[in-house]
Amino acid sequence: MEQAIIRVAQAIAQAERILVISGAGLSADSGLPTYRGLGGLYNGHTAEGLPIEVALSGPMLQRDPALCWKYLAELGQACLGATFNAGHVAIAELQRLKPQCWVLTQNIDGYHRAAGSPPERLIEIHGELAPLYCQSCGAEDPQLAEHLSRPLPPKCAQCGGILRPPVVLFEEMLPEAAIARLYAELRKGFEVVLSVGTSASFPYIVEPLLRARQAGGFTAEINPARTDLSAAVDLHVQGRALDVLPELVGHISSHRICK
Ligand code: APR
Repeated sequence: MEQAIIRVAQAIAQAERILVISGAGLSADSGLPTYRGLGGLYNGHTAEGLPIEVALSGPMLQRDPALCWKYLAELGQACLGATFNAGHVAIAELQRLKPQCWVLTQNIDGYHRAAGSPPERLIEIHGELAPLYCQSCGAEDPQLAEHLSRPLPPKCAQCGGILRPPVVLFEEMLPEAAIARLYAELRKGFEVVLSVGTSASFPYIVEPLLRARQAGGFTAEINPARTDLSAAVDLHVQGRALDVLPELVGHISSHRICK
């Protein structure tokens, strides 16, 4: 694995424009559950016998807000009960070393921002868990933690409407601003695209890697398991983000590698 990490470090060291794509596997090392694969949230059904993708969907939030919020609260408690890890810190450090290094994350835990990634170069394509907002009057409510310890669904202090987090639930559209920023940056091209801890289940996650390959760029994946991406990237580093990223960025920041 050491050689693979050095190869990725060399490619990044020689590049200006770099995109890091992250998924639940990056936060798995913080103790958060992933969605698919071993122990994934989606492998089972809810206590009500529903697939989690149904329980956590936009239509369910309208049809049965208490049920949807039961699972939103589980996600919220998990995110609030943990924090970012050395993998997030390494990515933030890489963004300091490389002013044109961007992060595209599917995670809603806010850990990239908390670990120091610059918000202006962070695209949170599935939104974030906070601040909550009222579906009726639009009022913002920053008290996610407090609401999770009260009866659900949380209600708006202004109008009594039902609050929701600014996350993309199943069957909902992706945030337009995030999509616009992603494609504006993709049009400028990325010389290196690094996928970390994602099963790459969505086309907008696979596309940046395919575009980089077609343009002759370097692509790599950091994941202990093989995914559909593994055969498509130049290098699959079979390891945990927490083990690989600090070593990878350490090579770059200490110039231990030849440019
Ligand atoms: N380091 C790196 N990768 C890991 C680690 C780890 N320590 N642990 C697990 N993984 C890998 C798994 O092998 C898997 O390929 O992380 C990946 C997690 O995949 P998913 O659970 O599918 O998570 P993700 O790809 O982020 O899902 C994308 O699906 O439902 C939506 O909104 C949800 O944002 C989520 C999206």
